[in-house]
Amino acid sequence: MKPIKILAIVGSLRKGSYNRQLALAAKEIVGDRADFELLEYADVPLLNQDIERPAPEPVTRVREAVKAADGIWFFTPEYNHFFPGVLKNLIDWLSLPVSDKEPQVLAGKPAAISGITPGMYGTGIAQDHLVTLISFLNMDVMNVPRLTIPYVAEQLDSEGKLVLTKSHRYLERQADAFIAFIQKRKT
Ligand SMILES: Cc1cc2nc3c(=O)[nH]c(=O)nc-3n(C[C@H](O)[C@H](O)[C@H](O)COP(=O)(O)O)c2cc1C
Repeated sequence: MKPIKILAIVGSLRKGSYNRQLALAAKEIVGDRADFELLEYADVPLLNQDIERPAPEPVTRVREAVKAADGIWFFTPEYNHFFPGVLKNLIDWLSLPVSDKEPQVLAGKPAAISGITPGMYGTGIAQDHLVTLISFLNMDVMNVPRLTIPYVAEQLDSEGKLVLTKSHRYLERQADAFIAFIQKRKT
């Protein structure tokens, strides 16, 4: 059987992003059980229907990456109890049909959601909004388990790097569940 492909989409463009570090920790946990790639999308322009077709090159690239993936794993911060605008912009592009003959690329894709934050909510409210959006786009959402990690400061080393002392086993649990979730749909 071909290896599973997981595409991680991080809702933060910040270099030191805790959510990006969380995605990298997930990649390590997944190991050789799946190809695990982080989507780079900082070059995707703000959506403007005047430039919808032909799609700008970065949009074509992210669409191809989503099409090639067996599952999409979102790692999102929470901004004002919502997920960040950069992620909404990316998803809006992905929600558009590729052409008159080819539908949008997110429908039917298995999706998992995690998030980490300095505050007390652990991104739970942002995640609920994200579930509403990706369910509307007919993604196949793994609602249990989701991972919400509050108080990031408690899980940093002396250099400010994420070490996930308390949450590592929950990330492992979610990785196991998502791999099984994807495998079930491939067989
Ligand atoms: C515009 C803005 C709004 C924010 N609102 C929230 C919030 O509602 N809840 C929260 O826990 N943190 C909030 N934060 C703090 C972010 O959680 C924090 O900056 C986090 O580190 C961002 O994720 P990242 O490290 O992956 O970039 C906000 C940050 C910004 C820039």
